Amino acid sequence: MGTRMHSFSRKLGIFAVSAALLGGALGVGAFVTQTPSPPPPPINAQFDYQIGGAYTPGASVGIVDRDHTAAPAAGKYNICYVNAFQTQPDDTTTWAGANDDLILRDADGKKVGDPVWHEYILDTSTQAKRDRIATIVNGWITECARKGFNAVEPDNLDTYTREPKLLTQANNLALATSLASHAHAEGLAIAQKNTAELGAADKEAVGFDFAIAEECQYKSECGSYTKVYGNNVIEIEYSDNPPSAYTNACADQGKNISVILRDRDVTPPGDSAYHYEYC
Ligand SMILES: *[C@@H]1O[C@H](CO)[C@@H](O)[C@H](O)[C@H]1NC(C)=O
Repeated sequence: MGTRMHSFSRKLGIFAVSAALLGGALGVGAFVTQTPSPPPPPINAQFDYQIGGAYTPGASVGIVDRDHTAAPAAGKYNICYVNAFQTQPDDTTTWAGANDDLILRDADGKKVGDPVWHEYILDTSTQAKRDRIATIVNGWITECARKGFNAVEPDNLDTYTREPKLLTQANNLALATSLASHAHAEGLAIAQKNTAELGAADKEAVGFDFAIAEECQYKSECGSYTKVYGNNVIEIEYSDNPPSAYTNACADQGKNISVILRDRDVTPPGDSAYHYEYC
């Protein structure tokens, strides 16, 4: 809490100074013009995925990705993880009570998802529900911005590919568009996570700034991302796949984009499962 207040007041300070400078130079009218696109992560900088638990990143790391409940890492480009299309296993309150109807139900009224992991899919099928989901997730995005994060990673955009009878790409992209416009208004860049079938037109329509691709080498779909995003792509391979997924990724695009190898649960150092490699 103390850290958050500190960085928030510091941000306000910088804003006040820039406002004074710009106001003097250009007049107050300058503030109604469009805000510039927030910068995407530095291309091919060393990436560390810390969504399973935050820890001090190595000195050579340039980009850190942490859960929205964590604080950003000092001196790095920070990406804020929000689970935007699915419930988060350790969050048992957000989608309960009056928000329980935002969890997708099948024809029998059963919650759709993985009950063992408490990971349920959110229902993006109506404008009213999308608006209510956006209000919640945009609240997290606002907090990310206040804490000093630089970008947001809304996870599980691809739920419509897993539940094609219940969800549509158009409706998921409509929710993504609300999140992107809010992220940009808060000064944050926004990532397309996975969902290789989307093209340049979808990127433009939603307003995505870069891509985070999991297992794209393993699924032979890395080219789909670089075709749309150039080298503004971060690739995460996992150590439970054949080692060739990572070594081939390094050989094919490790010189162009950020490629890392992580353990499936993205554990912090000290955990027996912890695994991290960068190329
Ligand atoms: C690497 O990036 C350059 C542009 O910076 C591009 O011309 C080249 O095709 C890329 N290589 C791969 C393997 O993606």
